Amino acid sequence: MRAWPPGDDTASPDPVDEAAFRELRERGIDLDPEPPGQHRHGETVHPSDHAHPHVHSGPGEPPVVGIVGAGAVGTALGVALSRAGWPVGAIASRDPARRDRFRSLVPGSRGFGEAVALLDEVELVILAVPDDALPALAGSLRLYSGQAMIHTSGALGAEVLEPAMAAGTQVGAFHPLVAFADTELSVAALRGATVAIEGDDQLAELLAGMAEAVGAHAVRLAPGTKAAYHAAAVLAAGGFIALLDAIAQLGRVAGLDEAGSLAIYGRLSEQTLANTRALGIARSLTGPIIRGDQGTLERHLDTLRAHAPEALPLYRAAAEREIAIAEGRGALAPAAAEAMRRSLARPD
Ligand SMILES: NC(=O)c1ccc[n+]([C@@H]2O[C@H](COP(=O)([O-])OP(=O)(O)OC[C@H]3O[C@@H](n4cnc5c(N)ncnc54)[C@H](OP(=O)(O)O)[C@@H]3O)[C@@H](O)[C@H]2O)c1
Repeated sequence: MRAWPPGDDTASPDPVDEAAFRELRERGIDLDPEPPGQHRHGETVHPSDHAHPHVHSGPGEPPVVGIVGAGAVGTALGVALSRAGWPVGAIASRDPARRDRFRSLVPGSRGFGEAVALLDEVELVILAVPDDALPALAGSLRLYSGQAMIHTSGALGAEVLEPAMAAGTQVGAFHPLVAFADTELSVAALRGATVAIEGDDQLAELLAGMAEAVGAHAVRLAPGTKAAYHAAAVLAAGGFIALLDAIAQLGRVAGLDEAGSLAIYGRLSEQTLANTRALGIARSLTGPIIRGDQGTLERHLDTLRAHAPEALPLYRAAAEREIAIAEGRGALAPAAAEAMRRSLARPD
């Protein structure tokens, strides 16, 4: 059985035909059998020696999944889906070691060096490759009728996959808001995480089910907002790492190693995060800026110039933002805010 009704995806389904299709599907009857000796890709009919996907999930079962890219996201998603009982039929990775690792973690999956070979084995194709590789990869693939393809990028829309479409196929996106650093930690982090999904209603429903299967919650973003949503995610993950790196650099000046800095400043960050959840962001601001302590700000800038000049731009950018928050709260007089801004703008 196919996961999605085959045929012309531009035509609106006839409600009577839909009911008949549903009944046939429930009885496990193939809705578009190929004539003997032929296989079809979209509108193109191929002779019998041409490969054709013969995998079809059963009625009400999740589709057979294939993942392209055995990197951080592809591997963790493969493991999470497989543990959730979704059939992960194949992995395509150009690297034999990554491919073997994936297969050892996802029992029953077949390995391929080329994404195009995987198309013959699966119903739902997940492209978990770098954002920049998506356009060329999608352009090199052509889906079979009844298949769907999604990517996991937060920065790009589903339309980047359109070159791979044929009649009766669908494209979408599945972007988990998780920092995929380690496979097991990522599988655990999927529980309770948010996944931004894109796709037509039918595919979106399937993707929401897929998110739920791995313990996550699906959200659909308003059109045109994905880049902002993703930029916020990048600040929350990579941006926070940059901040921690600067914190650890200053901690070294004070004689702390990285673990020591993480232990003491990490605790302070956790406490601050808890405060923001309880009080809101603006009300949680503490420190010299909201107190108007100009002398302390000057001493910080001097020590940064002397001992950690690489951390200065980040300190300045954060301080500028804190001044704006403090002013917004009415906690900092305009003259004090101006004096602090002048200190921050002073050349090194
Ligand atoms: N990392 C995160 O925290 C995170 C979170 C959410 C979403 N994402 C998104 O998930 C996607 C994958 O990210 P990732 O962190 O998993 O990347 P990654 O760890 O670098 O893995 C990327 C995989 O794609 C394969 N690949 C690279 N270039 C390719 C190409 N030109 N054609 C085909 N395959 C190629 C790689 O090589 P092999 O084929 O050699 O295996 C690798 O297996 C990206 O769109 C990213 O934005 C990432």
